[in-house]
Amino acid sequence: MTDTFADLGPILVIIPTYDERENVARITGRVRAAVPEAHVLIADDNSPDGTGAIADELAAADDHVHVMHRLGKEGLAAAYMAGFAWGLERGYEVLVEMDADGSHQPEQLPLLLDALREADLVLGSRWVPGGEVVNWPRSRELLSRGGNLYTRMALDLELMDATGGYRAFRAQTLRDLHLHDVASQGYCFQVDMARRALRSGKRVVEVPITFVEREHGTSKMSGSIVREALWRVTVWGGQERTARVRAAVRRRPARTAAGG
Ligand code: GDD
Ligand code: MN
Repeated sequence: MTDTFADLGPILVIIPTYDERENVARITGRVRAAVPEAHVLIADDNSPDGTGAIADELAAADDHVHVMHRLGKEGLAAAYMAGFAWGLERGYEVLVEMDADGSHQPEQLPLLLDALREADLVLGSRWVPGGEVVNWPRSRELLSRGGNLYTRMALDLELMDATGGYRAFRAQTLRDLHLHDVASQGYCFQVDMARRALRSGKRVVEVPITFVEREHGTSKMSGSIVREALWRVTVWGGQERTARVRAAVRRRPARTAAGG
């Protein structure tokens, strides 16, 4: 692995924030130290705790840090979609998703970027050999493992961690995924992106990461986010099965008039 990632082109790390006052400066500093050439875009949903103002100070002090102020809490998917659009318009060739709370360690970003040299989308994975979670409550671990098992079965995806949120995309991958019709709002957006990438023939690679539970602030995971994921994965599974049956019917040789 080389020290710089200049060969990949300009890199943008998108960090969505909602009430991450205690985390935003720390995570930004860690990204800047870990991969100095990378730019950071903080996509803040008008956090009531003042995260946006702290982000403005960070941006004023460092030309590699940018802020997107959004009107209000619209969910993880909307924040990332806006961040992707911002980055694509400005010519970034690599777009990274990273949580603000330190669960995705910036020091592991070089592992994802290195893997991207041979891939179109790299997923940081907790559930492949070498991956792990630190300090996660048992209930969250069960939810993640169960969610991933259900996703694998419903969608027939050969991924161990399709719900995780530490990822590196090539710009071309995002352009090819037809993001205008993404309906996901919450964390199931991650499954949606992985599924779209695989279905469009992209090389999707999982690299093991150590996911460390946040020390400051609180998770925004909620019952409605889990319910949305459950029904959307179920609907996608049904749609894909229907499409496979239709394709199989079309492939069946037509009967001849002679009754053969
Ligand atoms: N702008 C914005 N708007 N940011 C948001 C929103 C929102 O509506 N909801 C959450 N975030 C931000 C948080 O501020 C944080 O930086 C990041 O998204 C992840 O949110 P957490 O609330 O910390 O997620 P988690 O730790 O419970 O969930 C983790 O695991 C999920 C399941 O595997 C994350 O890695 C998720 O990405 C992952 O899907
Ligand atoms: Mn978190």
